[in-house]
Amino acid sequence: MHQPTGKGRDGQYARLAVLISGSGSNLQALIDEQQRGNLPVQFAGVISNRADAFGLERAKRAGIETKVLSHRGYGKRADYDAALGTLLEALRPDLIALAGFMRILTDGLVQAWEGRMLNIHPSLLPRYPGLQTHQRALDAGDSEHGATVHFVTPELDGGPPVVQAKVPVLPDDDADRLAARVLVQEHRIYPLALLWMAEERLRLAADGAAYLDNRRLDQPVVLTAEQRAPS
Ligand code: GRF
Repeated sequence: MHQPTGKGRDGQYARLAVLISGSGSNLQALIDEQQRGNLPVQFAGVISNRADAFGLERAKRAGIETKVLSHRGYGKRADYDAALGTLLEALRPDLIALAGFMRILTDGLVQAWEGRMLNIHPSLLPRYPGLQTHQRALDAGDSEHGATVHFVTPELDGGPPVVQAKVPVLPDDDADRLAARVLVQEHRIYPLALLWMAEERLRLAADGAAYLDNRRLDQPVVLTAEQRAPS
């Protein structure tokens, strides 16, 4: 079993900033794994674009610095992203996790952090980028669905997939039941992907592909429901 080290960067744990907009259940999964000793990161801070995001409460309970940057005060997306970039720089993150962050980032901000920014998306990308993924899977009659962690690139939900987990679509599923089943898997794959980043095993290469242990990921690593998440 690969013992998490993650102490790159002159012997310090990687600094992880997390961006949220809502419940923060993915943030909570990261906090829980870090507290269990399975995710060698230090939380640099949590930024939300909504003051009412419950994820802010989760961060405060874990003693993590929180910032709210409402998008209301900014007419142009680029102005908001400039302010967000300034907040991020102040946190000095090595890694950034978008975790239920419901804003589309401008190319400038993405490019400033490309290769250090991950997102979790509730579909088996490249299927269903964008919103309403669970309903779309149901409407398409898919027999399976799931979640994907991918590098963030300027193309919305288009960055190279890193790890996926699949769930069955069941006959009596509606979007909420399916979303709940997917969310459980999100909480497995996000800590795993960030562990790989913290250990500097996962990287986004100049060829635009993701590499894990210097192996090009032409397909994401796929976790099955019963499989113990490999580290
Ligand atoms: C999750 O389905 C995530 O994939 C999507 O937002 C939902 C809520 O995430 N991006 P969280 O509970 O706020 O982490």
